[in-house]
Amino acid sequence: MTGTPVLEPCVPLPIAERTLIDVTEKAKDWAIMHGAAMRSKTNFSSDALNFAPFILMPSSFPRKEFEKAKNLQTIINQLMHNVAHDEEFLTTTLAETVKVDEFTANLFNVYKKVLANGFGQAYSLGLLRSDYLAHMFEDNSVKQVEINTIASSFGGISTHMMPLQSFVMSELGHADKIKNMPENTALSGLCGGMIKAWEVYAQPKAVILFVIEDVSYNICDQRFHEFYIREQRPDIKVLRRTLTQVHKEGKLGPNKELLLGEYEVAVIYFRAGYEPLHYHSQDEWDARYMMECSRAIKCPSIHYHLAGTKKVQQALAQPEMLERFISDPEKIKAVGQIFTGLYSLDDSEAGNASYEMALKEPERFVLKPQREGGGNNVYGADIPDALRKMSRVERAAWILMDLIQPPISKGYMIRPGGKSPPEVVDLVSELGIFGVILGDVDNVICNYQAGHMLRTKLSTANEGGVAAGLGALDSPYLLD
Ligand SMILES: Nc1ncnc2c1ncn2[C@@H]1O[C@H](COP(=O)(O)OP(=O)(O)O)[C@@H](O)[C@H]1O
Ligand SMILES: [Mg+2]
Repeated sequence: MTGTPVLEPCVPLPIAERTLIDVTEKAKDWAIMHGAAMRSKTNFSSDALNFAPFILMPSSFPRKEFEKAKNLQTIINQLMHNVAHDEEFLTTTLAETVKVDEFTANLFNVYKKVLANGFGQAYSLGLLRSDYLAHMFEDNSVKQVEINTIASSFGGISTHMMPLQSFVMSELGHADKIKNMPENTALSGLCGGMIKAWEVYAQPKAVILFVIEDVSYNICDQRFHEFYIREQRPDIKVLRRTLTQVHKEGKLGPNKELLLGEYEVAVIYFRAGYEPLHYHSQDEWDARYMMECSRAIKCPSIHYHLAGTKKVQQALAQPEMLERFISDPEKIKAVGQIFTGLYSLDDSEAGNASYEMALKEPERFVLKPQREGGGNNVYGADIPDALRKMSRVERAAWILMDLIQPPISKGYMIRPGGKSPPEVVDLVSELGIFGVILGDVDNVICNYQAGHMLRTKLSTANEGGVAAGLGALDSPYLLD
């Protein structure tokens, strides 16, 4: 990455060693005490927390691009809502993919079965997160990495990152700079969506169900949502169950109510179910199908989940495709500008041309399967081998995307068990903008932008998943 532009840091670096050690120790404790924390993967105990990896001071991000991404979110929410309700588009777009990708095929089967039997609930709740990298070759303008429609995480912990880093800034004598650190309303915004959905369901005794993984490492993020809901609405109970437990304990009532023991479920919030490993057997798929058939409002419902696949993202980026979903030409233009090149690898003329293009100049691309949760993509020099191992048909399970090349920022990454004092490292940040949308095919009851998250990784790493252990939580320092 020689020659990569470096964004100006919020304070001059490096920080004197003694000061740095002191402030790092304080910041770690601040993080644990305020729940900017996770369960350890290497030393797991459900009775203990480690602080979540974080960047000591806020990373620089262009203000104009931050605002642009925020302002686009309600359009993106509506776009995803429209896509999710377009049966023909989902079916055609995923047709080749479901032939070769078993997981997407299983999701699609659930969708088809629900379509055949009738949806138990017309309303869907979308808690979305649209992720961006600034692209240095286009004046640092933001380009969408992906859109998440299921288990869009870190709204809880991210809300605490600005306060954590403003504490650090004050400790370092830079309180005057806090004004360039935007407030974050992700937690209240996302929970507001769940509460609104609960109200739409209109059954005072009903609960909100969080569908969770067998082990939740990112427990604080989830608990923040749960506890915030209880704080705002002492009358709303949150239950946590795995897909396996829902299969064992759940059933549908006479009016398609989802019943879990003594509780009727108003809203289902999926924090699991987005990767094959969450489905140990047919039982978990049966549980998913039962939930989809139920009257409960799903976040996301199955069609929203499918709308968030990489294949759909790739299809949306094709010329004129947005016109199918958005009528205002100004909005089409604005959304079109955040897309980078996305290419089909289906066995078609266009797909075969993208295959040849990837073999020729692999360093320009990222190869992505239909998966979520990080660690699944193939980068640059590894692409040709990966592609050559696939049959023509198998390639339809993947998409090709232009590599976005973000500018570098400098800072200190603080992680459990990390070096003391930490060293200044080269970093790149990925911005996530949260959005909330609730509605049925014709009526949108609410549609708003709801806070943000910033995730920062070493500039040398391909991916920066915080849960995966490569990235760190952060918040933006807006540069004019
Ligand atoms: N086009 C791209 N250019 C540069 N980096 C990318 C690109 N697409 C993905 N990445 C990196 O890979 C990570 C994971 O990719 P993503 O599409 O978000 O998949 P996942 O669903 O696994 O999160 C991103 O967070 C980003 O760091
Ligand atoms: Mg991602």
